[in-house]
Amino acid sequence: MNKDLKHIQEDIDIFATDSFEELDKFRLKYLGKKGTLTLLFDNIRDIAPEDRKEFGKNINILKTKILEKVEQLKQSIESSKVHTVDSLDLTCPANSVSLGSRHPISIVTQKLCSIFEKIGFTVSEGPEIEDDWHNFEALNFPPEHPARDMQDTFFIGKDPDIALRTHTSSIQVRVMENNKPPVRVICPGRVFRNEVVTARSHCIFHQIEGLYIDKNVSFADMKQTLLYFAKEMFGSHVKIRLRPSYFPFTEPSAEMDISCDICGGKGCNLCKHSGWVEIMGCGMVDPNVLKNAGIDPDVYSGYAFGMGIERMTQQLYKTKDIRLFFENDIRFLEQFKAI
Ligand code: DAH
Repeated sequence: MNKDLKHIQEDIDIFATDSFEELDKFRLKYLGKKGTLTLLFDNIRDIAPEDRKEFGKNINILKTKILEKVEQLKQSIESSKVHTVDSLDLTCPANSVSLGSRHPISIVTQKLCSIFEKIGFTVSEGPEIEDDWHNFEALNFPPEHPARDMQDTFFIGKDPDIALRTHTSSIQVRVMENNKPPVRVICPGRVFRNEVVTARSHCIFHQIEGLYIDKNVSFADMKQTLLYFAKEMFGSHVKIRLRPSYFPFTEPSAEMDISCDICGGKGCNLCKHSGWVEIMGCGMVDPNVLKNAGIDPDVYSGYAFGMGIERMTQQLYKTKDIRLFFENDIRFLEQFKAI
């Protein structure tokens, strides 16, 4: 390599700076319009023809070296700048962190719990993965009952005894097994059914179960408690009605409707023009169920009820598509204020 080029090479090797300005000067010194390397290129004709090729190659090598050096120094200056206190304005206000909001299902669950807690119920929870005994058998479901079918129940693995609970009624069995009467509990939780997901139904939803066992508990006690609940939840103008129904674990069984809050009982789309909206199943706990859970049906009686929390939430907030509760889109969720 010719002497001038050697010089340049040394200069590149030892050059160091922590200033962008100096770095730019360095680049222009060699590669600017009047830079040393640019001029050498321009004057390549002055080189003897047999040396020209070699000379050109060496200039190109140096050019690449300079560009690499510039890039490397640029990066190291940038990264060192980030860490210097000078580059930070410590008086700047911090970016605000947006707060999440309570999920409407949680808001309604908590409201339901607090209404029942006011009259002496306590909250109890149970496992989402249940055995056949607690989900079906102890609740008086006959072995061939359609609810046990693969089409409704999500089984876990190959064991037909273990499944995702299909209702929160399984918790009432656990509570009765583990507590002596009097028992007064409400049991909120997630339940699972193998159903097609549409605007009106979902394979995951929430229920709340209620159970009251003591001496001399009557159907009238249940009716009064549920009337109190409906008025607390939907307002004192609300009326209830009980229609006879069937559930394997209650006898007699009923379904409870409330007067439609949207049309005030006159009839609208939501209540299918009946003026009433069904919100829960209920009834007197079947003596067989008490026996299965170790409670003497000759001494004790009680009532149970169960309702879907999504349905209740839709009634309260007048939303139409159940799937929105599971998408967790913050724009949907933040519209709900605590009640
Ligand atoms: N487990 C029932 C269901 O999932 C709801 C229910 C009805 C619960 C009547 C009860 C009851 O405790 O008495 O549809």
